[in-house]
Amino acid sequence: MILGLDVGASFAKAILVDENLKIIEKQILPVEDLKTAALRTLNSFIRKIDEELRGRIGVVAASGGGSRFIGEEAFGLPVKRIDEITAIGLGGLLLANRDEGLVVSAGTGTAIVAVYNGGRTIKHVGGTGVGGGTVLGLSRRLLGLSIFEDLENMALKGDAGRVDLTVGDIVGGPIGIIPADATASNLGKLTCKSKAEDVAAGIFNMVSQTIGVLAAMAAKAYDLENSIILVGMLPKSKIVSKIICETIKMFGAEVVVPGDCEYASALGAAASIYRQFDSLHAQTR
Ligand SMILES: Nc1ncnc2c1ncn2[C@@H]1O[C@H](COP(=O)(O)OP(=O)(O)OP(=O)(O)O)[C@@H](O)[C@H]1O
Ligand SMILES: [Mg+2]
Repeated sequence: MILGLDVGASFAKAILVDENLKIIEKQILPVEDLKTAALRTLNSFIRKIDEELRGRIGVVAASGGGSRFIGEEAFGLPVKRIDEITAIGLGGLLLANRDEGLVVSAGTGTAIVAVYNGGRTIKHVGGTGVGGGTVLGLSRRLLGLSIFEDLENMALKGDAGRVDLTVGDIVGGPIGIIPADATASNLGKLTCKSKAEDVAAGIFNMVSQTIGVLAAMAAKAYDLENSIILVGMLPKSKIVSKIICETIKMFGAEVVVPGDCEYASALGAAASIYRQFDSLHAQTR
């Protein structure tokens, strides 16, 4: 069995997978200190799983920014670092059960990876610094709040249409392929008097639409319009995934949000180890 670890800027995810890449156990913990998060998460996960399973772990496959602090061995287990782009690409493809796809990892920031041929070709498309960290940072300053669930509830009660300028506001109707109620300028109507709920809705809208537009454009450029795979923790938010998916569909592309989307990189890291075994066997056969 392989223990997949993904230590991101906000959350660390650990999973245990068997040789069929079935997820046996999983755990997610907030990251307080990036330097110690990998070891803390590993320690907590190893204690959580039962002893028999623990004895069957062959290697820890570690990915994500915080994995660089873990070293080559931890708690008696060998650790192998896996490139994050590979982990995102393979994990997204496996969760969505696809042969190719544009994997959009919406976390603290957003990374975009194009994957073809069952994961044999993986290309880093790029990404944007607009992501979950942007929601929290702007909300901290504008609303004095940074608890994600509270912000989400606030946004649900608000109306982004009261802080965003729509296409209809400016041109009086639809334009090209864009309907009248689409956003022309995120937060373009925001004032000191805007209600907190509307501000929260506007922040969620801006971040989600930015990710959605970028994903749709990248999918067109990489010929993957029928297979956008949205992963990361941020799409666990119903508001976020709804807006990202609506935006992508408005541009004529197709998107799925697979179950366990927050574990994509942890799964991909583990899968990449099995893949290395496979190619090694193929070479020695
Ligand atoms: N309950 C929640 N549901 C959905 N999203 C959440 C929730 N709690 C926090 N978030 C958002 O998820 C973001 C983190 O997502 P994720 O864990 O995928 O990123 P990360 O892997 O830590 O970061 P990165 O990959 O960019 O280094 C936070 O910035 C926050 O905005
Ligand atoms: Mg991440």
